[in-house]
Amino acid sequence: MCRMYDLIAPLSGDPGVGNAIASLFGSRVVKVHTKDHPDGELYLRLGESVKGEDILIVQSMYPSQDRKFIETLLAIDAAKRSGASEIDVLITYLAYARQDKVFLEGEPVSVNTILRSMIHAGADRIYVVEPHSDIPLKTFRENLVAIDGVTPLARRFAGEKDLVVFSPDIGGIDRAARLSRALGVEFHYIDKKRDRFTGEVSSTFREDLDLSGRTTVIVDDIISTGGTIAKAIELLIKRGSSKVYVACVHGIFVKGSVERILGAGAHRIVCGKTTSHIVDHVEYIDLHEHIAEEISRAKR
Ligand code: R5P
Repeated sequence: MCRMYDLIAPLSGDPGVGNAIASLFGSRVVKVHTKDHPDGELYLRLGESVKGEDILIVQSMYPSQDRKFIETLLAIDAAKRSGASEIDVLITYLAYARQDKVFLEGEPVSVNTILRSMIHAGADRIYVVEPHSDIPLKTFRENLVAIDGVTPLARRFAGEKDLVVFSPDIGGIDRAARLSRALGVEFHYIDKKRDRFTGEVSSTFREDLDLSGRTTVIVDDIISTGGTIAKAIELLIKRGSSKVYVACVHGIFVKGSVERILGAGAHRIVCGKTTSHIVDHVEYIDLHEHIAEEISRAKR
């Protein structure tokens, strides 16, 4: 692969993607030094001169979303002030992405605040692996590039017989379409409703769909509490699915979520390695080759 960036700067949340794509691109890795001040504030310094160089800063914003956000802003600002010629950012997991509109009066559009701050600090282009929705892509069309995180998950299900792909909600239908395309199988979606006040989730899907003896794969962008997936699994099993697999790009997996999903009847949980948060019973998939290819395509 040809060199896309002179320098790559992995930050503290990066799950190893920065170093991996630096070797694919033949880029130099810049060490970024950080430490905590006695009062808890973050100090950051780039370990070498970036003057006149193209730099790609790599970060994942989980766990400690707020801290990772500040670290990203400081790194962008440091690169800008040090005279980097182009500053791009790769976010393998973008926190706050689910608050992409005002659902209830008085709320912010958190994802816009996050992205706008990075651009304001000096980011020329921000690559986001599997953003929650395409809403910010329209708002920040000049600066934001989405990287598909679903297609590389397909290889873990290749060769499975009589497979059907499901999205756990209508918002994720494009993800189910991409996974089903990669696998050459059909896809459907579940009609999920979440009560905005209580957070309670209810799910249904087409009455005429009989899944007797079939294997199903539910694909989502994020698994946090596992509530959405557990509800979907129960529904698919009730309709006759003999085996249910789960695939997600970003495994937040808060305490108890994996047990909840396995307890609901999942046979496997497959997840992209977009954060450094690794939990038991989950099969992780490296995405760096796919990310490097997508960056090369976008930058050409
Ligand atoms: C929501 O629209 C997202 O795509 C995920 O379905 C949701 O964030 C999953 O959250 P949880 O695991 O807490 O149900």
